[in-house]
Amino acid sequence: MPRIARIKKAHPARILVASIMAGSGSDEELRNWQTLAKACQDEGADALELNLSCPHMDRKDMGSNIGKDQGLISIVTQAVADIARVPVWAKLTPSTTDIVLEAGGAFLGGAAAVSSSNTFPSLPLIDPATLEFEMNVDGLVSSGGLGGPAILPLSMAKMAQLTQAFPDKAFSGIGGVAEFAHALNYFLLGCGTVQVCTAAMLDHAIGPNVITQLTEGMRNTMDRHGWSSLDDFRGIRRDRVVTHSKIRRPDAKAYHGGYESEGYATSDR
Ligand SMILES: Cc1cc2nc3c(=O)[nH]c(=O)nc-3n(C[C@H](O)[C@H](O)[C@H](O)COP(=O)(O)O)c2cc1C
Repeated sequence: MPRIARIKKAHPARILVASIMAGSGSDEELRNWQTLAKACQDEGADALELNLSCPHMDRKDMGSNIGKDQGLISIVTQAVADIARVPVWAKLTPSTTDIVLEAGGAFLGGAAAVSSSNTFPSLPLIDPATLEFEMNVDGLVSSGGLGGPAILPLSMAKMAQLTQAFPDKAFSGIGGVAEFAHALNYFLLGCGTVQVCTAAMLDHAIGPNVITQLTEGMRNTMDRHGWSSLDDFRGIRRDRVVTHSKIRRPDAKAYHGGYESEGYATSDR
């Protein structure tokens, strides 16, 4: 907690978002969210991000287990929003069938923004020679969150669903961002901010080189396209994501429009 105050004091003009996490199985657990939220905002955090999405929790009332339950998402978000003086962001898990439902729960609870994605559940590969998992402890592994380049297109698909369903809401894009070309994908889909984790951890300087690359890349890209602010390019490719039947086929004559246009959707056969 003291770090938040120190960072804010050193960089008062910068925005500092504090990430918090607690359980949700009882009123006491909900009060823990509020305690954390109050402490962070009292130390100077400009916004709070609720971690409703960590995939490493055995507890059923924590992390991505909250993020898989739109009712719990609403309850936790509202508990924090009730006492927050700063905007509350809800960070969702990609491990659900339709992330639009969970985002709806977050907005209903008072979230000012939704962040996506947290990591995707994954296992390390098995070495074909030793038949051991490439990473293990005493031969055992547990499903762990995957971030980095592999998840950029996966997370984009989630973000496109979100920004199309809620075009007037605020979103923070996360997953696979190491340079501005990656971040640009999220902005073009409608995000106002992006976040970086894996690339910063891989940077031996723990982040500054990534930030330098991102800001330089942003300046160059904005110059190239003649953009003067984020508003010039935020969301300008959001509506290019369509259903399969709207994609033109090479031989249009042989294609009759797919499920909806051919009447299967209304057929009772
Ligand atoms: C080692 C590690 C630790 C993480 N810890 C947290 C955490 O404490 N809270 C959280 O909300 N997300 C956490 N994440 C998720 C990241 O913030 C981010 O959502 C995810 O890694 C995807 O972004 P990336 O591709 O830039 O890594 C963690 C990810 C990694 C790889």
